[in-house]
Amino acid sequence: MTTNSRGKDLQSVIWAADHLQLLDQRLLPEEVLYLELRTSEDVWEAIRHLKVRGAPAIGISAAYGLVLGSSEAAGSSPDAWLAAVGKHAEYLATSRPTAVNLFWALDRMKRRAAELADGSRTAEQCQEGLLSEAIAIQSEDEETCRLIGEHALELFKDGMGVLTHCNAGGLATARYGTALAPFYLAQENGINLKIYADETRPVLQGARLTAFELQQAGIDVTLICDNMAGMVMSKGWVDAVIVGTDRVAANGDVANKIGTYSVAVLAKAHGIPFYVACPMSTIDLETPTGTEIPIEERAAEEITEGFGKRTAPEGVKVFNPAFDITPHSYVDAIITEKGIIRPPFDVNLKKLFDSIPTA
Ligand code: MRU
Repeated sequence: MTTNSRGKDLQSVIWAADHLQLLDQRLLPEEVLYLELRTSEDVWEAIRHLKVRGAPAIGISAAYGLVLGSSEAAGSSPDAWLAAVGKHAEYLATSRPTAVNLFWALDRMKRRAAELADGSRTAEQCQEGLLSEAIAIQSEDEETCRLIGEHALELFKDGMGVLTHCNAGGLATARYGTALAPFYLAQENGINLKIYADETRPVLQGARLTAFELQQAGIDVTLICDNMAGMVMSKGWVDAVIVGTDRVAANGDVANKIGTYSVAVLAKAHGIPFYVACPMSTIDLETPTGTEIPIEERAAEEITEGFGKRTAPEGVKVFNPAFDITPHSYVDAIITEKGIIRPPFDVNLKKLFDSIPTA
C-alpha cells in the first residue's frame, strides 16, 4: 500500500509500469490511500469490495486486471497466453453483475487478445499489445467523459439548482465523470450551478465521494440525506436532476444506484427534468428492458452496521439491493459522448448505434 495524494484531481486508477495503483474509495474522504494490485485476484477483490466502483472505473480496472492475470503466461506460447486471457476474463466477470462496462471492457480486451495472438507475435509481444488496449480504454474514457460534459452543459443555465444521486464523477471514471462532468465544465466556463448531492444510503457514495470531489474542486455543493430530496424539490430549489448509470436497456430503462428510481418519481411529480449521463459502453442493446438487468444484492451489514456501529437489531431481516431500475418513461434525456438522446429511446438508441461505423 502507498499513500499518494495527487491534489484535488484524484485519479482512481493508475497503471504504474508493472502493477495497478488503485485509490481505495472505501476510505474517502478521510484518507487518500493508493493500493498496489499485482494479480487479477487483487483486482477482483477490489471491485467486489467497492475499493474501486462506478461503472467506467470498474471496466478500466478489469481491463488492467486482465493484463495482470495474463502476464503469468507471457513466457509461454501465444495459444497458452490466449487461454490465460480467457480464463482470467471469465473470472473477473464474476466480480460484480450490474455494471455492463465490466463485461464491455473484458469483451473488448478478449477481442484484441485474439487479434494479437494470430501467430505473428510472441506471447510477450501479445502481452504488450494487451496492455496498450487497457491504456486506450482508460484514455478514451477521459475524452468520452469530457464530451458527455460538453453535451450535457447545453441543458444547464447559470444559477440553476441540480440534484444528483450516488457518485458518477471523476472518481467513478478516468476523469470528469458522467453526471458530474457538466459541473466541471460549467465551472471552467464561469457558469454557476448549485449542486445538491444525495448522501446515497447505504454506503454513502454521495456523501463520501460526490460531496468530496465537488468540494475539492471548489464547486457549490450541498449535501442532503436521501429522504430530503422531495422537500428540496418542493422548495423550488432543483431545476434538473442528473445521474449516471450502470446499464441502460434497449428500451431506455436505466439501472443506477438504489434510490435513483425514487428521485426520478419525485422529479416527475415536481415537473423537474430527469437526465441520465453515460458513455455508449453503458448502453446494452442486448438487454431488452430493465427487467432483464441483473441487480446485485449486497451484504446485510451495509445496512445494519454500515457506520461502524450496529444500528439495527441483531438477526433482523434485511433486503439490500445495490441498484434499482428507473423506467424509461421517467427519463427526459440520455446524454452520451455522441450527443443528447431523447425519447422514444427504443428507436433513438438503436439509431445511435446504427449511425456508428463498425471497426
Ligand atoms: O455501487 P457503485 O458505487 O459502483 O454504484 C455506482 C453508480 O451507481 C454510478 O451512478 C454508476 O456506476 C455510474 S458511474 C459514472
